[in-house]
Amino acid sequence: MARSTRDLGKIVAYQIYIKSFCDSDGDGIGDLPGITSKLDYLASLGIDYVWITPFFPSPQRDNGYDVSDYCAVDPVYGTMDDFDELVREARARGLGIMLDMVLCHTSVEHAWFQRALAGDERYQRFYILRDGRGSAGPGDPGEPPSNWQCAFGGSAWQWEPRLGKWYLHMHDVSQPDLDWTNPEVRDALVDVVRSWRDRGVAGFRFDVVNLISKPEVFEDAPGGNGRRVVADGPHVHEYLQELVERAGIGDMLTVGEMASTTLEDCVRYTAPASRELNMVFNFHHLKVDYRGGNKWELMDPDIARLREVFQTWGEGMQAGGGWNALFWNNHDQPRAISRFGGRGGAGYEGSSWEKVGKMLGICTHLMQGTPYIYQGEEIGMTNPGYASIEEYRDVESKNYYRIMLDEGKSPAEALRIVGERSRDDGRTPMQWSADEHAGFTTGEPWIGVAPNYERVNVAAEEDAPGSMLEFYRELVRLRKELSVVSEGSVRFYDAGAGARRVIAYERELSGEAADAARAAGEPVRAVVLCSFDAEPCEAVLRGSDGAAVELAGLERVLGNYHDAPAAGAAGSVELRPFEAVVFVQR
Ligand code: GLC
Repeated sequence: MARSTRDLGKIVAYQIYIKSFCDSDGDGIGDLPGITSKLDYLASLGIDYVWITPFFPSPQRDNGYDVSDYCAVDPVYGTMDDFDELVREARARGLGIMLDMVLCHTSVEHAWFQRALAGDERYQRFYILRDGRGSAGPGDPGEPPSNWQCAFGGSAWQWEPRLGKWYLHMHDVSQPDLDWTNPEVRDALVDVVRSWRDRGVAGFRFDVVNLISKPEVFEDAPGGNGRRVVADGPHVHEYLQELVERAGIGDMLTVGEMASTTLEDCVRYTAPASRELNMVFNFHHLKVDYRGGNKWELMDPDIARLREVFQTWGEGMQAGGGWNALFWNNHDQPRAISRFGGRGGAGYEGSSWEKVGKMLGICTHLMQGTPYIYQGEEIGMTNPGYASIEEYRDVESKNYYRIMLDEGKSPAEALRIVGERSRDDGRTPMQWSADEHAGFTTGEPWIGVAPNYERVNVAAEEDAPGSMLEFYRELVRLRKELSVVSEGSVRFYDAGAGARRVIAYERELSGEAADAARAAGEPVRAVVLCSFDAEPCEAVLRGSDGAAVELAGLERVLGNYHDAPAAGAAGSVELRPFEAVVFVQR
């Protein structure tokens, strides 16, 4: 049975990057028993689902997103018994476990690829193998079949002498893409998903799942951007419907990670009638600080563009009956608090740190959709700002550091860029306490802890009135308690020429939902203002029809300053630096 948006709007999910969450055995790497030991903490946040990044056997070239066996647990993360216990204990606390399925590609160490290499033609048909351009015949590689670049730098094609072909890898060279046109591949993946469903998981996140359907012919792409060409490919909707139907997961929580996607496709992925997914992650709002669209060129975030993206996706998904996953952070992104805090990146914890963290929380948690909290976001974790490239671990960071040096950047400049853009910025150990290694491990952590852990940690914020942690609990509670937050429609406002760095929107109940709210004394409308400006500014709110938004008589229910901002006539509000406020009307 497809879920109603009413259910989806009440849900809050939490993402765990297992490698960095909690280490139970002192090897410096987080694990499943570590997660189980923190379930009371997770339940105390009020969240409903916990998405755990891949813990399947893997050579860890891409930290587990290179899977060598879909149906087992990597010993470094624990055992299948540990997993079963985690599911049981989570359930006992009302939490559902969501697994991260990486079905677009395998690791080169997966048995399927190994059999392909050994000459088994059946498994050679599991992958995307092509002859080179201009090849003189068997054994001569020629040139790669197309100019596509992979996500982590370099060609997306690798010549494999044992196959006498090039194989496609949209990500690392150790992650060959599966050929979903082959029904045997789809059968095998259905079995994988079904087996985890049968073990009691409550939902799935599907990794780069809009890249599963490749075009029929591989032609050069402008700028080598094969990802654009592959995204939302010809059979993607049909494959997703088939997977959901045959694996029997239509009533479970599902979210797809959609790379370089379109609104139109995302409406289709998530509108209940399509029977595909419940919701999607798109990344357009996290590219507003890419100069010329290039992640490795720094730029201050363009807030006008950010507002436009939120409006397009918020109102557009609503109009089409689709559903957004709402988020700022994940294991592939620098910390939003460092990114949007106006200090140019690397791990700051200055006077506006708390204001920025809470403002960002309000901005997404009050929108229409299902919010995801990424581990450490709820306590305000920042980028670590490592002092040398040796401290970074991620394959993408290492590759691009080298590429930037090759392009003529100085080591200092390249390090500064990596410091702001590395995926490792979001992968530092969870800061549990002021103890050594932030209480994450008793051993040597696989990646360094951010230097501010002595102040920014769960223990310090646990019983501290006004802490970020307390604020995040409040955000979750608001969504659970107020149907205007979980169910209301969304409409973005214009904040006026004096407030170019302000994002403002309204949520509103109508019809029976409004009547029910009114009868219960609950609000029927909420007005949300978020300033991304380090300076004070004056917002003058207008709807899309140009009419002023009346704020008189509204009641403040949440904000990151102790009192309400000064509201003047006809929709005008004086906002303090990085101020965010939620007003409601009953
Ligand atoms: C997704 C994951 C990322 C991984 C990539 C390849 O984007 O979130 O961590 O590297 O897919 O699997």
